[in-house]
Amino acid sequence: MKIILVVGARPNFMKINPIINKIKEYNFKQTKQRILKYILVHSGQHYDFNMSDSFFKDLEIPPPDIHLGVGSGTHSEQTGKIMIAFENVCFKEKPDLVMVVGDVNSTLACSITVAKLCIPLAHVEAGLRSFDRTMPEEINRLVTDSLSDFLFTTCRGANENLKKEGIPENNIYLVGNVMVDTLYKYRNLAELKIEKFKNLKKKDYVLLTLHRPSNVDSKKTFQEIIESLVEISKEIPIIFPAHPRTQKMIERFEFYNFFHKSLNYHFSQMKGIFLLSPLPYLEFLYLMANAKFILTDSGGIQGETTALGIPCLTLRENTEHPITIEEGTNILVGVDKEKIINESLNILNGKGKIGKIPELWDGKAAKRIIEILINKYID
Ligand code: UD1
Repeated sequence: MKIILVVGARPNFMKINPIINKIKEYNFKQTKQRILKYILVHSGQHYDFNMSDSFFKDLEIPPPDIHLGVGSGTHSEQTGKIMIAFENVCFKEKPDLVMVVGDVNSTLACSITVAKLCIPLAHVEAGLRSFDRTMPEEINRLVTDSLSDFLFTTCRGANENLKKEGIPENNIYLVGNVMVDTLYKYRNLAELKIEKFKNLKKKDYVLLTLHRPSNVDSKKTFQEIIESLVEISKEIPIIFPAHPRTQKMIERFEFYNFFHKSLNYHFSQMKGIFLLSPLPYLEFLYLMANAKFILTDSGGIQGETTALGIPCLTLRENTEHPITIEEGTNILVGVDKEKIINESLNILNGKGKIGKIPELWDGKAAKRIIEILINKYID
């Protein structure tokens, strides 16, 4: 059996990693006829060292077999370029199955290509819905799921969403969360290996990420968020590894005055917001696991903080990960200044949300996925 695995953007790499590892583990014990041959394709949607290569390095992901090198563009440009390049890959490689993960433009582009070529499609992290179609990722999720033959989900709510959309029940598999597989695998290593932040007192800082166009592309919204962060940072320092888009917006809006631009501080004695470049996986994991709490507009971090039991305040009006609110440590605070500050103070006053780990977020999601595919295709 030949399978193409697709990645493109930062949040894809930690999701594909456990899948590759399980395929390798399986192959190690097999005869030649029963091997699951995989080809790793990188669309090139993310291309900066910090957004891509550093993840391959930290997670020991083998270099992509094929790199499409598409880079940035408008949504249609990016999607179109990936489709054209990926179609050629499919013509040449003739895979039995293509696997996509998450909800980025690369996920969407490869799904459409594959469906038109009548190649079976597997989607890892299917069924998540924010019910907000102004989010590009929601469109990507809806289209990808409607075209997929194997829909691997992280929680029961996702199964329900898919059933309501008319997806046959037989195609839906509740397997758990592959992102959590990687988190559990690397958590101790991050603790052992990362020296860079040793001056940082544990649980004495807040970690912040912000990159949604709806939060950073509008000067007014971004400024309001920063004003609430400035208030919080009077109580506890905030560490802010910023996405390239966010860095560009800070420059465009001339917001630099709000931030410290250097790491050469003893954070515990400092107040303020520390602006950093995007971090490699292990450094970010170290900071996340030891933070007092996280402020974020990311999707994946909502799940990761729930798995780690770290309080998370999500700077969005909705989420495609409601389980992190129902069961985990996540609270939606939107971009309302008062709410952001009040919920932050709550946590600082020892009233942070205590969650539980959702069903099947046990580090074995990729194992379940590979077993299902082997059952269908090889056994
Ligand atoms: C993408 C995903 C988003 C995910 C995020 C994680 C889509 C629609 N969005 O958003 O779901 O949460 O990745 O990071 O796929 N840029 C660089 N270097 C890079 C990559 C991007 O400078 O390596 C800059 C470029 O100016 C680019 C912009 O960031 O135009 C946006 O990149 P893009 O890939 O379009 O979307 P993200 O905002 O990264």
